[in-house]
This record gives sequence, C-alpha cells and structure tokens, in this order.
Amino acid sequence: MAEAPISLTPAPRARVQAMQEYHPPLGGRDAMRLDFNENTVACSPKVREVLAQISAGSLTRYPERGPVEAVVAARLGLRAEQVVLTNGVDEAIHVLFETFLDTGDELLLPRPTYAMYEIYASATGARVIAVQAGDDLQFPFERLSSAISPRTKLIAIANPNNPSGLIATRAQLLELLRRAPQAVFFVDEAYFHFCGETVMDLVGALPNLVVARTFSKAYGLAGLRLGLLAGPTELMRWVRRVLSPYSVNSLALACLPPALDDTAYLDWYVSEVLAARSEFEAAVDAAGVRRWPSRANFILIEIGARHAEFVQRMRAAGVLVRDRSSDPGCDGRVRITIGTREQMRQAAAALNETLAALRIGSEAQ
Ligand SMILES: Cc1ncc(COP(=O)(O)O)c(C=O)c1O
Repeated sequence: MAEAPISLTPAPRARVQAMQEYHPPLGGRDAMRLDFNENTVACSPKVREVLAQISAGSLTRYPERGPVEAVVAARLGLRAEQVVLTNGVDEAIHVLFETFLDTGDELLLPRPTYAMYEIYASATGARVIAVQAGDDLQFPFERLSSAISPRTKLIAIANPNNPSGLIATRAQLLELLRRAPQAVFFVDEAYFHFCGETVMDLVGALPNLVVARTFSKAYGLAGLRLGLLAGPTELMRWVRRVLSPYSVNSLALACLPPALDDTAYLDWYVSEVLAARSEFEAAVDAAGVRRWPSRANFILIEIGARHAEFVQRMRAAGVLVRDRSSDPGCDGRVRITIGTREQMRQAAAALNETLAALRIGSEAQ
C-alpha cells in the first residue's frame, strides 16, 4: 500500500512573507462616503445606458483592449502603442514596478504618499528610498533631488499627492526627471481633473516619462476598475509583456468611450467639487482647524490626539472620513473627500458638531 504523502505547507517567497496585507476599511459604508476619494454621486448617465445594453452573448467573449486603447490614445493626442489600459491605476503601478524594479534597484519617492507604491515595491526586491516631507507636507524637491543615485531606477510622484492634496510644480518634476536620466519617471495623475496640471503633453517627447490616469475618481467608475499608463512606445512594450491580456474586463471597456464622450457630465462633477471644496475649506477655517491647501477632491485636516474618536463620531453622524494617522508624518490628521455642495454642507454641520463635542479647534478656547 502506498504511504500517505507528508503534507508540507508551501512557503511563499521571503519578500512576500515580509509584506503586510493591505486592508482598506471597506466594510459598512452605508453613509456619506467621504473616505476613499471616490466620486460621491454616480457615473455619467451615458455610461449607465451602455451598461444596460450589454448582451449576455457579449459576455461570452474575452475582452479586447486594443481598440479602446486606440480611442483613449486619440483623446490624449497619443498613439495607441503609447497607452496601456489597466485594472485601475493600482494594477498600473503593480505592473510598472514588476517590469522595471529589480533587486538592487532603488525606488525614490516622497513620504507621505499613496501607500500602494511601497506595498508593490516590497515584492520586487528594490530598495525604497523615501524622502519625508516637512510638517507643511510641501513637495520635498531639494531632498528628493539629493537622494537620486546611480541606482535610482524609478521615481514615483503622485501629483496632486495623496493624502495632502498638494502638488509638485511642472518645473520641479522636469528638473528631477533631468537629473535621473537612467530612471523611469512615473507621475500618477489620479486627481488630475480637479487640478488641471499635467505632464501628459510630454509623453513620448521624453524617453523616461510615464503618466497614469484613473477613471475611479472624477469619472465615478471605481467599481469597474479602469486606469491607464501613457508612456514611450518602447517602455509600454515591456509593460505589455507583464500585464495580463484580459485584466480590463469587457464591461469596463464598453463603458470607457461613453465616459470619455460625456464631457458635460465630467465638467459638471468637477466644477461641483471645486465649488464645494472652497465652501468646505471656509468652514474648516471658521472652525479654527488647520488644513492643507488641496488641489484634489479631498482635504487633509489636523484633528490632533483625538483623531480616532473624531472619525468614530463623524461616522455616527453619518459621514465617513479617513484617519491618516498611520501615514508617516500624519499623526492626528484626517482626510475628507469632497463631494457636492449639498453633501459638504451636511459634512460641515457634522464636522462642527463633532469638533464642539470634542472641544477641538476654536471650540477648544
Ligand atoms: C495617488 C493615487 N493613485 C492611484 C489610486 C488608485 O486608483 P485606482 O482606483 O485607479 O486603482 C489612488 C486611489 O486612492 C490614489 O490616491
């Protein structure tokens, strides 16, 4: 009789063992969602129409990314080979890092910034060189510049940055790019629509520049998972080798052209958020709470030691906000997504009540 095999639990790679699992707090979000920087209303009605017309038969086919990449590229003034669609910008980051970062390479980035850069880098074997911003959270241009080394293989900049909402200037970005000609220079423009500043116009003209955009924020399609990378044909060719051919599903591909076409909807949503942001900033100022000047659809405010209680009380008042205290240099700071003016008036009322209850800001006197 054959002996029963001894069962051994297979161990993952050492790098994976050292990784932390990322648990975004997605449970119980039946309230005003000002915690994930999503669109707080809906996607374009033109997208809804296309979704309603999708046939069961069309779902039997594998999705074809190429033709939609050509549509998006034309909108951006680029060639189809220069654009890669991805399953959200998160996948774009993952694939870009897997393509270019190797053991011994360095990934240079400012801190605090979007958490997924360090998480994806940790599986690659590259060393993360993180440059901490000062208390004002301004882009640490000089210190990033000094941290460039011959091993710098990739520089990742979210512009505007998350969680601060602050931006790096075009001149600063181009200077860093010039000083690291051996590195992929990655600019994550997830919040571009709320800010208007971009380096997309330089894609293809500069051999190392790669730009990401998402459809999760202004377009309101976070659930469909759609993002893109735009870069020189040669770099995008390597990225395509690593990317799964079907990672962008057919529903997402069908919805992308109508989302792009409905510029009236996008313009409405962005202008609503910008108006709401100014009003909400005024409310935060009137409450005597410190804030950072944001160019995105969220703002970071200083709550201090009672940050966890603040977030809980806001939740009890029906408004979800995000404690950023565990981000480096952000202890006591809370990020609030900006929605419509109507939503933000409710949020401001909840903010004032909560601050009063906790005796924070001008309520502290
Ligand atoms: C800077 C930045 N990049 C990328 C993402 C993720 O975008 P996506 O939903 O397209 O994966 C976020 C989401 O919060 C972000 O803040």
